[in-house]
Amino acid sequence: MSDGKSTQNAPYRVEVEEGKKYFWCSCGLSASQPFCDGSHKDSEFSPVVYEATSTGTVAFCGCRQSKNKPLCDGTHRTLAD
Ligand code: FES
Repeated sequence: MSDGKSTQNAPYRVEVEEGKKYFWCSCGLSASQPFCDGSHKDSEFSPVVYEATSTGTVAFCGCRQSKNKPLCDGTHRTLAD
């Protein structure tokens, strides 16, 4: 699967709840970033499931270039704006 479309050159910081599952948008087309809204239909993309292991803030990738999807790994800092 190739990288999806960047929606912002920074992570999305989201409050997550332990044990809850989140569906990160890998295609970059969702209107509910950073989560899937079904817009990937008929494409090569599908959402990436993230299950929170603890309650707190998580940084989800916004540039779609992270090597640790669905989480931010700082790659956006190396990209041009
Ligand atoms: S809308 Fe992007 S993966 Fe579902």
